[in-house]
Amino acid sequence: MSTPAIIAQDLNFQWSADRPGLQNCSLAVPQGQFWMLLGTNGSGKSTLLRLLAGLLTPQSGLVKLAEPMGFVFQNPDHQLVMPTVGADIAFGLVKEKLSPQEVQVRVGEALQAVNLAEMARRPIYALSGGQKQRIAIAGAIARHCSVLLLDEPTALLDRDSQQELVLQVQKLVKQRGITALWVTHRLDELDYCDGAFLLEEGKIVAQGDPKPLKQRMMNKTAV
Ligand SMILES: Nc1ncnc2c1ncn2[C@@H]1O[C@H](COP(=O)(O)OP(=O)(O)O)[C@@H](O)[C@H]1O
Ligand SMILES: [Mg+2]
Repeated sequence: MSTPAIIAQDLNFQWSADRPGLQNCSLAVPQGQFWMLLGTNGSGKSTLLRLLAGLLTPQSGLVKLAEPMGFVFQNPDHQLVMPTVGADIAFGLVKEKLSPQEVQVRVGEALQAVNLAEMARRPIYALSGGQKQRIAIAGAIARHCSVLLLDEPTALLDRDSQQELVLQVQKLVKQRGITALWVTHRLDELDYCDGAFLLEEGKIVAQGDPKPLKQRMMNKTAV
């Protein structure tokens, strides 16, 4: 197995004393693979992903991530801040102090990678939900991210856009050697990943091959 690009060791985090929070969560995602983090509502998926991203600090434990990291939120309207597609992706590159030409090349490349090559001048408001999520991913591609963390990116999408997005991320992982961790509570999305973690009440209770995990969850929901 290749070196992990995402590592969490014994993470503990509590929002408040009367809630269980995350308990001793450890995980490792091998470099260049597409893994999912599965769990019911309130199981702690977003909390764990935010800890991995450094948006929250654990009470104890360690996080190690290959850099740079990109984060895709459930609601793209919380992420896309500029009036047009091109401006939004370019905005994410400000810190890199590139020349205007370099910025243009990066934006063009990133849009191509998510199959939205002709969209640079398009206003954000004119995009569909699925297109907005692909623009958020393009922002990460433009920054040449090694790691992509996605928090239920399909939650607000219809079925077709949902499938399109998961296939897109699967392809980007394979083509670009990106390591992705995708949070979901939808069992059908498990068909596209290399491996998965199952989170229950703040604990990782199973991991590995997605097929038995899917079966386990389907048996549960059938009861
Ligand atoms: N900002 C917050 N403040 C206080 N409690 C929170 C906050 N965010 C999440 N929680 C609590 O942490 C637990 C896990 O939530 P979350 O990580 O959002 O779960 P999931 O993403 O799996 O639905 C829940 O009990 C939730 O109420
Ligand atoms: Mg969540």
